[in-house]
Amino acid sequence: MYKTKAYSAVSASSPLARTMIARRDPTESDVQIEILFCGICHSDLHQVRNEWKEVMPTVYPCVPGHEIVGRVTKVGSAVSKFKVGDLAAVGCMVDSDGTCAECRAGLEQFCPNVIFTYNLPDKHLGGVTYGGYSESIVVDQRFVLRVPTNLNPAGVAPLLCAGITTYSPMRHWGVTKEKKVGVVGLGGLGHMAVKIAHAIGAHVVVFTTSPKKKEDAERLGADEVVISKNADEMQKHAGSFDFILDAVSADHDVNAYINLLRRDGNLTMVGAPEKALAVPAFSLIMGRRSLSGSPIGGIAETQEMLDFCGKHGLTADVEVIPIQKVNEAYARMLKSDVKYRFSIDMASLKSE
Ligand SMILES: NC(=O)c1ccc[n+]([C@@H]2O[C@H](COP(=O)([O-])OP(=O)(O)OC[C@H]3O[C@@H](n4cnc5c(N)ncnc54)[C@H](OP(=O)(O)O)[C@@H]3O)[C@@H](O)[C@H]2O)c1
Ligand SMILES: [Zn+2]
Ligand SMILES: [Zn+2]
Repeated sequence: MYKTKAYSAVSASSPLARTMIARRDPTESDVQIEILFCGICHSDLHQVRNEWKEVMPTVYPCVPGHEIVGRVTKVGSAVSKFKVGDLAAVGCMVDSDGTCAECRAGLEQFCPNVIFTYNLPDKHLGGVTYGGYSESIVVDQRFVLRVPTNLNPAGVAPLLCAGITTYSPMRHWGVTKEKKVGVVGLGGLGHMAVKIAHAIGAHVVVFTTSPKKKEDAERLGADEVVISKNADEMQKHAGSFDFILDAVSADHDVNAYINLLRRDGNLTMVGAPEKALAVPAFSLIMGRRSLSGSPIGGIAETQEMLDFCGKHGLTADVEVIPIQKVNEAYARMLKSDVKYRFSIDMASLKSE
């Protein structure tokens, strides 16, 4: 066991502040990573503030962060995938039982014994797992990803959650060339959805509450941009979408988007607002539409997404910040003032 610097919250109402945490010494199948960059996901904020207390109550102190890119500093004797000095990445999961039907299908995110990167039981050290707002992390090689070397590491970090969470449902629901795809909410997830859907060749329509994001949406790959508060603009798209990805973090009217689906169209929720959704049955019945949700993606698909991004030169648009600005970044995230993901430069933690 060794100690490493981290940022944690000690209660739902306290800001994140510097602390020391324990990490295990690498076992034979572990990879030790010096963290270079960690993205800030809105889930970090939900979890820190215990907004998901009904389903995933927060255990304090909480060290968030599940968009991790770093340099391998040590490997166990059985590690074959990585060597010291490699770039490596870790996303939202660090363990699973490896034996259940979900794991065998490469869908570790559905394993009943999945362990997320933070806030779930740590079988090695007791207590709960601690995430990427820290100097280093030790992870079993099964959950460590290879990073395409042509991409900027600060912009790769957000792919580990925002990238896979948007890539996976688009693949599952058959988004292909020329399908009409809607993306609701141009935040961290939304902007990756736009880039990925555009790279796939879909016709991409962004729905935003922020008129000032229109030009950015087009630059990111949107073919059309709709200001969602404008009912006439919304009405023009009624019954026309094959697929809509809803990546909104706060309470909103999801029914307004279900009505934009064509026959057999699907709306997938990846956004996880605190408040329950209101969905009239008839919106789904008419047109045999479906509403579903999707959590992150399996490890094999995460690697596939990283390789896809490598091939297409895709990274997140990041604002790189020192960790000392993390509380300010959370406040800005709540105002939808992020272009389009904060990526923490972890060198700033070393000097503190
Ligand atoms: N399913 C999963 O596995 C998974 C994985 C990661 C994250 N998430 C969840 O996905 C959600 C988005 O995460 P993120 O990191 O992308 O957040 P984010 O960067 O804060 O983006 C959220 C976007 O939602 C829109 N929005 C915010 N408040 C709104 C409101 N009151 N009404 C309508 N639109 C609003 C804004 O876009 P505009 O300015 O364009 O309107 C905002 O930029 C969060 O709930 C997060 O926990 C889920
Ligand atoms: Zn996330
Ligand atoms: Zn399993």
